[in-house]
Amino acid sequence: MALIVLASASGSPGVTTTALGISLVWHRPVVLVDADPVGGSSVLAGYFQGTVTDDDAMVTLVLAHRDRRLAEVLPQTLITVPGTHVLVLPGPKSHAQAGSLTELWPALAVELSALEQTGQDVIIDIGREGMVHSPQALLQAADLALLVIRTDLPALAAARQWAAMWSAASQSGAGASGVAALLVGAGRPYEASEVAKVLGITVLESVAWDPRSATIFSQGQKPPGGSWPQRDRLVRSYRAAAAALNQRVAAQRLAMSSGDVW
Ligand SMILES: Nc1ncnc2c1ncn2[C@@H]1O[C@H](COP(=O)(O)OP(=O)(O)O)[C@@H](O)[C@H]1O
Ligand SMILES: [Mg+2]
Repeated sequence: MALIVLASASGSPGVTTTALGISLVWHRPVVLVDADPVGGSSVLAGYFQGTVTDDDAMVTLVLAHRDRRLAEVLPQTLITVPGTHVLVLPGPKSHAQAGSLTELWPALAVELSALEQTGQDVIIDIGREGMVHSPQALLQAADLALLVIRTDLPALAAARQWAAMWSAASQSGAGASGVAALLVGAGRPYEASEVAKVLGITVLESVAWDPRSATIFSQGQKPPGGSWPQRDRLVRSYRAAAAALNQRVAAQRLAMSSGDVW
């Protein structure tokens, strides 16, 4: 149904954690793409605690792209999160490697968008906006681009420029089809309505502030009882966010098919 990109404007608000959390509660099979140009495949080091290694997926994909076999090879590079319908595409191993992926991203954007036909959605973590080697082609291909932000003043000050640039790009057809903010910890101290006013974009949803539960997803910390807690406040907020994303993309597509500008 959708290709959704998450990015941050400053600091480390929880993009990777939130992208994984939302993927784990997603209602359909989903491919979670680590496209953070900082490198280091943080889901493998974090959630998987280094127990899973990849055979350098990015190199495999670059070579496949050169051989015009990207669509065929892409599924072979995906790692299943055990017990879930989440497949992870590990990202660049290093910032230097990210620099050699400029030609890969646009081609990968096409193949990831095509996964929709196989019943898979795609959630992409592009890390911090404005980084050198940032995969802008993925952002441009997105149905929805989400600015993940905390709600303190420095976070809002940094996010403002990106909210404006993303909105302008979206309206001119050069950016993601839709743009919104996803808050981590609304009310710390600013509420969603205040953030929306400052940024001039919709605040789609808020993810609960819960440092302890977040480490289950960011560090692979073992949750009490073994599996991640379904009733946990954070998990419930991931579910609400997933539902809001789906609803928003569906509404956008409906508007587009009837000729309305979103
Ligand atoms: N909802 C949350 N509440 C509290 N802490 C969080 C939340 N989500 C993530 N974190 C914490 O924030 C830190 C940064 O998370 P990470 O996902 O790596 O950020 P980013 O990808 O934006 O750099 C981690 O310590 C993580 O556990
Ligand atoms: Mg990250």
